[in-house]
Amino acid sequence: MMSNEFNLTVAGRTISGINSALEIGNMLKEYGKNRIFFIMDAGIVNSGIGDKLTGKLKAAGIKVEQYSEIPREPGVPDVDLVAAKAKAYQPDAVVAVGGGSVLDIGKLLSVLIKTEKTVLELLDGTPVPEHSVFTVLIPTTAGTGSESTRNAIIAIPDRGTKAAVVNEKLLPDLVFLDPELTRSLPPGITATTGMDALCHAIECYISKKANDLNDILALDAIKRIALNLRKAFNNGDDVEARWNMLIASNFAGMCIALSGTNAVHAMSYPLGTVFHIPHGQANAMLLPSVMEFNLKADPAKTMAVAECFGFDKDSTEYSAEDYLSKELHQLLNDLEIITSLSVFNVTEEDIPSLIESAYQNRRLMDNNLINLTKEQIGSIYTKLLGEK
Ligand SMILES: NC(=O)c1ccc[n+]([C@@H]2O[C@H](COP(=O)([O-])OP(=O)(O)OC[C@H]3O[C@@H](n4cnc5c(N)ncnc54)[C@H](O)[C@@H]3O)[C@@H](O)[C@H]2O)c1
Ligand SMILES: [Fe+2]
Repeated sequence: MMSNEFNLTVAGRTISGINSALEIGNMLKEYGKNRIFFIMDAGIVNSGIGDKLTGKLKAAGIKVEQYSEIPREPGVPDVDLVAAKAKAYQPDAVVAVGGGSVLDIGKLLSVLIKTEKTVLELLDGTPVPEHSVFTVLIPTTAGTGSESTRNAIIAIPDRGTKAAVVNEKLLPDLVFLDPELTRSLPPGITATTGMDALCHAIECYISKKANDLNDILALDAIKRIALNLRKAFNNGDDVEARWNMLIASNFAGMCIALSGTNAVHAMSYPLGTVFHIPHGQANAMLLPSVMEFNLKADPAKTMAVAECFGFDKDSTEYSAEDYLSKELHQLLNDLEIITSLSVFNVTEEDIPSLIESAYQNRRLMDNNLINLTKEQIGSIYTKLLGEK
């Protein structure tokens, strides 16, 4: 299925290179920025990345206000708190350093600092205010690809789900893709965030809104992840593997902007909000089972994804679909990813509300190549209750 139709806005400027982020002080000085609101979370503080980068800013004579109270998978109250601090400081640039949790808040600050609007209003559909503050995003996971999407995903605890603000005004002005900063990522988070990127790439590749640019980027990302995620997991200091993962995550983020994720992400959101299963972990455990439904819908694309994972029809007795399914299960196993929902205290009684929440997420579900019924969604959740 070929389609020349697409609509893509990207970050203002993206710089990819080993140690590229160390230029942040000089570059922001060149941009005339002197008052920075710098956000991160505890993991970034503890890894020393925060000090390393704020040191570069201060050395360039730039004033820095730091905020590091961002939790994983932040919710509306977390955004309200950080927005109040940022408004009080009135920076001329925001720098967000971290995984998707921090980057999504950085993107929201770029539109919230100069208005009275709240994040909940934006999540409920109030028009997004102007992008009024220069914003720098530096991903340290690989990852959400948030630096190249126009989405910010925020939990709404009262409603038991996550919602998205989707608008190109959220795109950053400057991005550094610096693999040195992902070296400190522990193996478990390397694995789950890498699987999130793989879900983005595979879901977007096999999606209703897929188009030719999406497909090029998605296949490239899938190939890079197939070749490098195990390496990055086994040896965090393999900078070449880390770099390929960061590029894959960035490309897969562009795919989110070009087409969109679908059933895996729709089914993972309630697992994140209600059971606090980290985003990448929830997606990873869903991917093989959801794909058993989706892959049937597009044999040519299934073949292409399988080839990224080494499928060679002349040297195997498996069909592309079976080969890929086996490979995805093997990947989860090699990355030591938990595959049972029971481990996260999900029980049979929880399934109806999970089904309802996933099914009602029409923004994502309507982009799934096949229309998953409530029964099919339920069968996937139920199967995962029983996995080891
Ligand atoms: N905007 C988008 O397009 C988009 C896409 C997918 C997911 N998301 C959202 O992103 C969030 C998840 O982001 P994530 O998976 O990147 O994880 P995360 O940002 O929650 O980070 C996970 C953990 O890793 C730590 N960490 C991050 N980088 C580190 C490093 N280099 N060294 C040591 N520790 C490090 C963090 O401190 C944190 O404890 C969710 O809220 C999800 O909904 C957004
Ligand atoms: Fe994701």
